[in-house]
Amino acid sequence: MPAMDKSPTPPAASSDTAGGGAALGRRRLLSGGALTLGGALAGAGIVAAAGDGSGSASGTGAARPQNVAYGVQKVPFHGRNQAGIATPAQAHGVFLGFDLAPGVDRAALGRMMRLLTDDAARLTQGEPALADTEADLAELPARLTVTFGFGPGLFKAAGLEDQRPASLTPLPRFSIDRLQDRWSGGDLLVQICADDPVTVAHAQRMIVKDARSFARLRWTQRGFRRGRGIQDDGLTQRNLMGQLDGTANPVPGQDAFAKAVWTDSGPGWLRNGGTTCVVRRVRIELETWDAADTKAKEFTIGRRLRTGAPLTGTHEKDVPDFEARDALGFPVISEFSHMRRARVNEDRLKIFRRPYNYDDAPDSGGRPDTGLLFVAYQRDIGEQFLPIQRRLADSDLLNQWTTPIGSAVFAVPPGCAPGGWIGETLLG
Ligand code: HEM
Repeated sequence: MPAMDKSPTPPAASSDTAGGGAALGRRRLLSGGALTLGGALAGAGIVAAAGDGSGSASGTGAARPQNVAYGVQKVPFHGRNQAGIATPAQAHGVFLGFDLAPGVDRAALGRMMRLLTDDAARLTQGEPALADTEADLAELPARLTVTFGFGPGLFKAAGLEDQRPASLTPLPRFSIDRLQDRWSGGDLLVQICADDPVTVAHAQRMIVKDARSFARLRWTQRGFRRGRGIQDDGLTQRNLMGQLDGTANPVPGQDAFAKAVWTDSGPGWLRNGGTTCVVRRVRIELETWDAADTKAKEFTIGRRLRTGAPLTGTHEKDVPDFEARDALGFPVISEFSHMRRARVNEDRLKIFRRPYNYDDAPDSGGRPDTGLLFVAYQRDIGEQFLPIQRRLADSDLLNQWTTPIGSAVFAVPPGCAPGGWIGETLLG
C-alpha cells in the first residue's frame, strides 16, 4: 500500500516505522533503558538497523499462532459494504465518537479517511498499521472489523450539506430521554469490534492516534457480548437483564436483511452499499429489575425469559399470536409489551440491532452502571428507526427500567475496493 499523507500535522517519524521495524525498534527501545519514546522514534537509524522491511509481524521472532481457533480469523475488509454490520457480532466492541477539529475541510477529510482506511485495511488482516509501535499486537486480528460513519456535522465541515441524507439529523428529544452531552452527537463514528479485547484496544490506539490531527474524541463507549467459544455461534445471546436479545432481528445474508439495511434511496454516494447507524446508550436499572418477579419480567417483553419464546408459544422462533387472550379476555402479549410496541412486519421497515452490553464501575454505594449500547443499522433512520423509537417512548413497559442517556446518528458509507478508501464516494 502507498505511504499515507498524515497532514495536517504528521507525528514525527511516523512514516518510517511500519511493521516489524517498529516492533524491533520497540524492543531495542526497551532494552536500551531510559530513552524517551520521541527520541527513540526520531532515530531513524534504529528502524533501519532493526527492521526486516517486510511490514509483517512475522519478523519479530514471536511464536506464530499454532492451535489458535479464533485469534487468527479475519474478516475481509474490502467489499461492497463495510464489514462490521452483517458480520456476526464479535465479543468486544468500542464505539468512538469524534468531533472534527476547526478548519478540517473536505480535502482534509479525504486525507483522514485515506489514512484511517489504510489502518483498518491492514489491522483487520493481521498486519501492523503504518507507524505501528506495537506491531506484535496486530498479529491476532480475531475477526477485527473497523466501521466508519459520518455524523451530520461532517457534511457541514465538508461543504456538502446537500449530500446529507434528509433524516440524518440528531433525533428529536423523546420524553423518556435523559441525554448527556458526553454520550451524544459526534461528526465521525468509528466502530471497532473483535473477539479479543487486546486486539480492540490496539486498533483503537492506532485509529485514535491517526485521527488526532483531524478530530477530537468526544466519547468512547466500550461494550461486550459473550466471549467467542462460550456458547455456540449463531445462538441468540442474553443481555444483562437476562433476556434473549436479538430473536426477531433480520438475518444477515437473507433478502429481508438486505431490504432493511442497505440504503437504496437519497444521495447517490450512500447507495450501493451504504447504510445508517443509530447509537443509543441506554442505562438499565438492574437493582429494580432484580426486584421484579419472572412473570412481570416476561410480561414486560412479551417473551419468556428462559427460552425467549413468545408468551403464546414454546420455542424461541415461534411466531407470536397477538390476538390470543387469557381467561379474563386480556391479550396474552400485552399491548404495552416491548416486543409488541417495537414490532414491524414489513421487511423494508425493520431495523437491524447489533447491540453491546456495558457494565462500568458501580458507584460508591455499589449501584451498577449498566446498560446497553443499542446500535441499530437501517436504510433510513426517519422511515425505520424513528417510528419504532416513538412508539417505545410513548408507552413500553420496559421504560420502567431503561433510560436513554446517549444518542447519535451516522451515515455509514459503502465499502471500498482494494486501493480505494471509505468515504471516497462522498469526499473524493
Ligand atoms: C435497554 C434497552 C433494550 C433492551 C434491554 C431490549 C430488549 C429486547 C428484547 C429482550 C427483545 C425481544 C427479543 C428480540 O426480538 O430481540 C427486543 C425486541 C426488539 N427491540 Fe428491544 N430492547 C431495548 C431497546 C430497544 C430500542 C431502543 C429499540 C428501538 C428503538 C428496540 C427495538 C426492538 C425491536 C425492533 C425488537 C423486535 C420486535 C419484534 O419484532 O418482535 N429495542 N428488545
